[in-house]
Amino acid sequence: MEIQIKGKLFDEKQIKQRVKELAQEIEKDADGTPIVLVAVLKGSMVFASDLMRFMTGNVQLDTVATSSYGKKTVSSGSVQLRKDLDLDVEGKYVVIVEDIIDTGQTLKFLCKHMELHQPQELKICTLLDKPARRLVTLDADYVGFEIPDEFVIGYGIDYAEQYRNLPYIGFVETE
Ligand code: IMP
Ligand code: MG
Repeated sequence: MEIQIKGKLFDEKQIKQRVKELAQEIEKDADGTPIVLVAVLKGSMVFASDLMRFMTGNVQLDTVATSSYGKKTVSSGSVQLRKDLDLDVEGKYVVIVEDIIDTGQTLKFLCKHMELHQPQELKICTLLDKPARRLVTLDADYVGFEIPDEFVIGYGIDYAEQYRNLPYIGFVETE
């Protein structure tokens, strides 16, 4: 299905500045406790790698994968774990790194699952937050930008596996 890019929400410079601020905030809050960034595949890969490079202290990277939207732009509601952590995060300052929180179901599920790994702290960092579409109660500890109810693409975020390579974040017209 073809889509039309309607416009830009955030350009490279705005994203870089905000990601840097988030990295500094997380390191300050961790206060010396070793950080583990847990990137939720695949949408947060670009964000997580930039976030990590703005950190100067002790930081490790891990990944988890959940079921995705596929070619739809609406969540199916049921979330499944496809890949678990590889690192031992006991005693660590664990930050789940997401590209976008929409209904909140993915992160609700992941947080519950992550508690089983007994981190010292469990935090959520999302680049984008669409609070208007929330179906479950969930607040992120670190939010890059709050956005309106639009379907977005770019900076790692896809539509049907495309557009992840855009350096900016745009919004699209679907159907
Ligand atoms: P949630 O479980 O509904 O919060 O869905 C979160 C996941 O849905 C995100 O990690 C994205 O992968 C995907 N998603 C939600 N909104 C968008 C969007 O506007 N563009 C692309 N993917 C999205
Ligand atoms: Mg995602």
